[in-house]
Amino acid sequence: MRYPSAWLDELRMRADIVQIVSSYVPLKKSGRRYTGLCPFHNEKTPSFSVDAQKQLYYCFGCKAGGSVIQFVMDIEHLDFQEAVRFLAEQLRMPLPELQNDPGYEKRRSLKERIYLANQAAAKLYHQNLWEPQGGEVLAYLKGRGLTDAVIRRFGIGAATGSLRIGDALEKEGFTQEELLAAGLTHGHEQKAQDMFFQRAVFPIIDAYGNVLGFGGRAMGDAKPKYLNTADTPAFNKRYHVFAANLLRKEKGLKRVVLVEGYMDVVALSQFGVAGAAATLGTALTQEQARLLSRFAPEIHLCYDGDAAGQNATLRGLEVLESQRVRTRALDIPGGLDPDEFIRQNGADAFLALKPISPVSYRIRREKEKYDLGTEDGRTEYAKACAIILKAVREPVELENHLKQLSVDTGYTREVLLKQMGATKETRNTYMPRRTGFRRNAKAEKPADMSSSTVLALLSAGKLPKDVITPEDFEDPDLKLIAEALIRGQTLGALLDENATDSLRQAVGAILSVEIDDEQAMNMAQECFAQAKRVKLEKELEEIERRVQNYSNEDSLKQAQLQRSLEIMQQLKALKLSRKSPL
Ligand code: CTP
Ligand code: MN
Repeated sequence: MRYPSAWLDELRMRADIVQIVSSYVPLKKSGRRYTGLCPFHNEKTPSFSVDAQKQLYYCFGCKAGGSVIQFVMDIEHLDFQEAVRFLAEQLRMPLPELQNDPGYEKRRSLKERIYLANQAAAKLYHQNLWEPQGGEVLAYLKGRGLTDAVIRRFGIGAATGSLRIGDALEKEGFTQEELLAAGLTHGHEQKAQDMFFQRAVFPIIDAYGNVLGFGGRAMGDAKPKYLNTADTPAFNKRYHVFAANLLRKEKGLKRVVLVEGYMDVVALSQFGVAGAAATLGTALTQEQARLLSRFAPEIHLCYDGDAAGQNATLRGLEVLESQRVRTRALDIPGGLDPDEFIRQNGADAFLALKPISPVSYRIRREKEKYDLGTEDGRTEYAKACAIILKAVREPVELENHLKQLSVDTGYTREVLLKQMGATKETRNTYMPRRTGFRRNAKAEKPADMSSSTVLALLSAGKLPKDVITPEDFEDPDLKLIAEALIRGQTLGALLDENATDSLRQAVGAILSVEIDDEQAMNMAQECFAQAKRVKLEKELEEIERRVQNYSNEDSLKQAQLQRSLEIMQQLKALKLSRKSPL
């Protein structure tokens, strides 16, 4: 069910995006756009922009973007329908009846069926935990110190005993196909088996309450220790984190504590530490960094204290810095993981762990590599630190590091500064990657710069719609955008229907095109000419194929030959007017 698209268009139009965004973020007019500091990630120079004409916002830093509805979803942590109601109320627009739209239903339905199946499964697993046949799992969880309250808070369940989740859900009306697609069963439809068996199951729930999948912990030492739902149409590990549902409920959260494991999240929550979340058995991705940055102004990495955890921390810090998120590391002593640490030492000891800056963390890790009792060790350590310190922008912070380094190595601060100047920019330099749009977009999609220009012109009404077809675009996202613009849909409406990161980025590229730019016009013309050339060449081929079937006297053949002459002339003209290739 969904709201009628004409009504949604009106809502988007009436809700002036500049005004709505202004009530959260101070905006300054700059040319055609309004700019400000992005409310979705931490930044000092504005990369957040609102396009009043297109009624879109976009952040060139963290690549958040979309219509006014998306903005309300992100800033208020609401789902689509809630955000629509929120806006309608402000605008005093009466809500229309929800409509049946079969096309839309079909696109959304598998995903929604998977959510429903997972939700039903989570309930059955959890109920099963309190049954006699769940006793083994319950004892295991209790043995690890979990309370009933925290087991309920996370909805932990038991895939044990005679519970056959596949059979049970089939009785509830789910098809075998849906259960396979959800990853709840595996194998063939005739002989599908439950995915989770003899395991404690942790439901993975997103900020909107959708049950995306499960992590299953084996009892004792059985292998594999964890079994996770594979990626499905409703779930991609890159885009989600464990416990996002609980993060959303925490108001005024100061920091997200990002840990490695499900059990770490559960333990921190049990001990009253707010804001714990975990990635899903994979390294932290850019998308997860962005997602997390929306829940709190800082992210504290708190991985296991062993070597693997430390290396993951170094990589995670880079990912977070590249998204320009304010980030700190928590160094857990004794090679413990957060779960073990807080159970052994209590919440106060955990809260007393000092969050350290990425630079301090890197220096600390370097320090362990060298023997500072030897001259060689001190020299190599100083060189390594010089590279790290090049990323420090604040003079006072740099001074603090230099003082300490001088004490540790015996070099004067002048020598250390010289060393910093001497080290070439290498790949080892810890420079937070700038995610300014132009460089990035080029690196990601070199061929699509000119296509973006064409679409920018199209969306600004500077190109007639009939000269372009979606087939002119290779990239699926650009194709989608072209289709939408040609049928008169706004980019905001398109993004509301297809909220993928890649589509958002493609729209961002279009928004960043300066239309008055002469160069942009030239590029567009070149693209346009190219598209036209392809079309004409196709027509020519078609004619050549066709004329073979006509006899020479046929008047149709004459007409066709006439047309092919015209085409050849047009092609020649296009080639003559052709500017230097892009
Ligand atoms: N993980 C996984 N598959 C494995 C091992 C780990 O997917 N075979 C993922 C899980 O998400 C797990 C996380 O990596 O939560 C961290 O792994 P680890 O530190 O080994 O697990 P813990 O959470 O410490 O598990 P436990 O305390 O239950 O041993
Ligand atoms: Mn553990």
